[in-house]
Amino acid sequence: MLKNFWYACEFSSAITNKPKQVPLLNQQFVLYRNSQGEVVALLDRCPHRGAALSNGWVENDCIRCPYHGWKFTTDGTCIEIPANQPGVPIPKKARIDTYPVQEKYGFVWLFWGDLPPEECPPLPSFPEVTDSALRSVEIESTCNAHYTRLLENSIDPGHSAFVHAHSFGSGMNQEPRLPDYKVRLEGWGASALLNLKQHKPRGFFWKFTHSKDYLEIKTTNTFYMPNLAIAYIGIPTKLILFVAHVPVDEQTTISKFIQFRSFLTQPWADGIFHKQSLKVCLEDKQVIESQRPRVVPDDLTAELHVPSDALSITYRQLRRKCLDMGWGLTPDISLSDHTNGVRIQV
Ligand code: FES
Ligand code: CO
Repeated sequence: MLKNFWYACEFSSAITNKPKQVPLLNQQFVLYRNSQGEVVALLDRCPHRGAALSNGWVENDCIRCPYHGWKFTTDGTCIEIPANQPGVPIPKKARIDTYPVQEKYGFVWLFWGDLPPEECPPLPSFPEVTDSALRSVEIESTCNAHYTRLLENSIDPGHSAFVHAHSFGSGMNQEPRLPDYKVRLEGWGASALLNLKQHKPRGFFWKFTHSKDYLEIKTTNTFYMPNLAIAYIGIPTKLILFVAHVPVDEQTTISKFIQFRSFLTQPWADGIFHKQSLKVCLEDKQVIESQRPRVVPDDLTAELHVPSDALSITYRQLRRKCLDMGWGLTPDISLSDHTNGVRIQV
């Protein structure tokens, strides 16, 4: 896990004026909206006895702990301790850490690091996904795996003919060879354009979009450190898959996808796209949960690479660069209450 990045951690649509717990980087945060609609992010742990504030409620933009009712402002200051007699001062240490957040591209982004956010990599720019003519669906999938393996899976063109042989890859399994491609480095990310020639896959979506049996599809796979991947699939019509692989802890990742489409934009079609995407996630999950070591190796020589792995090699190199800069977070399991994706009840 890496520090000094903005982390897309939750869908914007999931944050309301009701506090919501967001697990990220071995910790729990609580997010809610104030009366201006701005998102507030605090550590989800009351400094009094450690209760989760996310089980509390919002009062005049402040958050009230559900255990003994202490009340905190959006900057984390405690302003009320109900059990105290009048005149008893509030301890100076009665405060909660707060975090910079911003909302963009349908996600809430939380900054985690020890450098000022201005000195760290900015949010990447995805102008394509702000096109209001696009219809979107949100998909969420939890995987018992490290986020680095999920990120690599998202940018790996070689697995579709096998892992997705019964979904969108069904047209590729007779011809799994991939064209050579070039990797374009873009600051803290990289992308690759692939011209795929394949048989038309089975299924509703392809039937609708294509009349020919053989297709040429231009796909651009892009990733940004530390955990974002985007696939732009140009099939005269447009399909964009934007995913944040949210690192919950060393064993658990919640992948949050927003899929944008320029066709079948009627709301009734949402369910079809949602169901298809979930099926694809489950296909990936089966393989990814089996990968060992769980974390993508830091050393490039630890696994084998072929030309179609070029984009994931670039990801490993950029990850190595971050680790060399001292941006790695040492796992601290004492902070986590997740093991293998299951909450421990103590
Ligand atoms: Fe929050 Fe006591 S634990 S007020
Ligand atoms: Co896949």
